[in-house]
Order: sequence, then C-alpha cells, then structure tokens
Amino acid sequence: MPTTLMPPLGKKPLSGAAKQFQRDVLEGLNAPKRAIPSKYFYDQRGSALFDQICDLVEYYPTRTETAIMQRHGRMMASCIGAGSRLVEYGSGSSLKTRILLDKLSGLDSYLPVDISETHLRATVRELETEYPQHTITPVVGDFTGPLDLPRATSADLRTCIYFPGSTIGNFTHAEAGELLRAMRITAGRRGGLLIGFDLLKDKDVLEAAYNDAQGITAQFNLNLLTRINRELDAHVDVANFEHKARFNEQAGRIEMSLRSLGNQMIRIDNQFFHINESDEILTEYSHKYTIEQFTTMADAAGWSCRALWFDSRKYFAVMYLEA
Ligand code: AVJ
Repeated sequence: MPTTLMPPLGKKPLSGAAKQFQRDVLEGLNAPKRAIPSKYFYDQRGSALFDQICDLVEYYPTRTETAIMQRHGRMMASCIGAGSRLVEYGSGSSLKTRILLDKLSGLDSYLPVDISETHLRATVRELETEYPQHTITPVVGDFTGPLDLPRATSADLRTCIYFPGSTIGNFTHAEAGELLRAMRITAGRRGGLLIGFDLLKDKDVLEAAYNDAQGITAQFNLNLLTRINRELDAHVDVANFEHKARFNEQAGRIEMSLRSLGNQMIRIDNQFFHINESDEILTEYSHKYTIEQFTTMADAAGWSCRALWFDSRKYFAVMYLEA
C-alpha cells in the first residue's frame, strides 16, 4: 500500500498577521472589560457585509455622506487641489472616493490604505479600468499603527488625507485625538484632511441604524467569531452569542457587543475563558459628535477647519482641515 503524507491534525502554524490577531483577541478577552478590536470585522466576508449595511434603509450614514459628497464634491475636489496625492484611510470599496476621483484632474496619485488585502486588490483592479488617468498605489496596512507610505516623489508634493465614513467614530476621544495628530504628521506641513463624521442625534434613529430589521448588522458582528474560529487556533460556539447594540448617552456613542446566551467556555490557543450568561464582549464603539466637539478635538491635534458641509437634517458632517 502506498503511504500518503497526512497533514498533522489540529493546529496549523499561524501567519504573522494571524499571530497579531490572536494576541489582540487574547489581550482583549483578558482585560477587565472584555473587548475585541473592531478593525478585525473586516475579513472578506465582513467587508462584504459592511457593504450590505451601507445599503440598509436604517443605516443613514453612508447614504447621507454620499449625498453631501455629490452635492459639494466639486468644492471638496478644489480643496484637495490639482497635483496633490490623495491618501485614503480604510478605503474598503472606495465607493465615495469615486465622487472625488471623477472631479479631480491632475491628481498626483491616489493611495488607498486598507487592512483587508483581498478586498483592496479587487477594488484597485476595478479603479484601474475606471480611472486610467489616475495613478493608483494601494497600501495594505493598519492605519492605527505607524504607516509605511511610499516616499513623496518630490519635496513640494502636497498630501491630502481622505478619511470618510465616520471611521473616526470607532476610536475613543483620546485615541481619535492621537490619530488626528498622527495624520497631521503624515500629511506634512501643507497637508490637508477631508474627514466625514457622524453627528449626535435622536437615540431611536441611532439605535435603529445598528439594529436593522434584516439582521445584517448582527451577521456582521457575529462574523467576528466565525473569523476567530477559522483563522485562529480557537473554539467558540457562535450560536451561543447574540448581537447587541445600544446608545450610551453619557459617552455619546453606540456600543456594539456580543452577548452570551448562556454559561459557556470558549478556547483561544491554550487559554480557556468562562463566560456567564448575559456577559458581553465589546466589539465596537461608534462615537457621535457635535460639530463643536469635533472642531475642538481637531484643533488640539493641530488642524484648522477650512470648510464644513452637512445635510439638511444635520445627520452627518464632512469637514476640510489644513495643518
Ligand atoms: C465603519 C465604523 C463607520 O460605526 O457606523 C456599521 C461600522 N458597525 N454598523 C459605524 C458599523 C455597525 C461603521 N463604521
């Protein structure tokens, strides 16, 4: 009988990125308030589910921001200016960016930065056929850490950062302040920042946006556990958790978590975690700002507001700032 080489059962070695993911999950589960960083939502399925969220009737941010961009895109493009390079943080499918790319002539280059490599590659392939006039330089990376951007081709090249989608809302006020400061350094002396953020509004509108009737947001949240099971040496019973999202009025943010449906044990690597019924694992903060709050925070990070656009209901704002 010929012998076949069988792969060892169970553990397969983790890649560098998976090791970091595992370290972050373990650290989060060992913390006094259990949490998993929300950036890990965006594997291939998570990115696709997020695109579905953006189309939900209850989820107003994307639709509102897109309308603001369509209405004022020409002005925004002139703020970015010809000859600049446009760096987008967390580009995803680059849907809103196309509004700018349509209106920008003589852009030096567009650099989409995203954590999900497969998703980024697919998006760039599309953009390259749609925008043969633009130079596109994708950067796979996590913008919450030091970012390795390609060096500017000339000393007087201006960098403008595009940070739409209220992604800034995922960060606490302290973290958001730090990120804005880091962006100011990345953008450099004559740098610009075009940023979209979600505004404080009625609690019912906010909670409906994160508890859609179709349950897509629930799938998006629970997919984090599916991803952990697939990519890490882990065992979590996904069916033993439910999606939870509520507005914390004191903190001005939506808090999303995975709530345990019973007493259970989960295993990550060689660590076991006992989770009681109703215990929650925090998976996301989504901060909502007043325009004043945001301006003060940006100011402290060395940015000055040069232009501001919002919709008639004041649900969402897009701000242009300069260093
Ligand atoms: C991409 C962070 C802006 O906070 O609204 C959507 C993510 N989470 N529904 C948000 C999200 C649940 C989204 N951001």
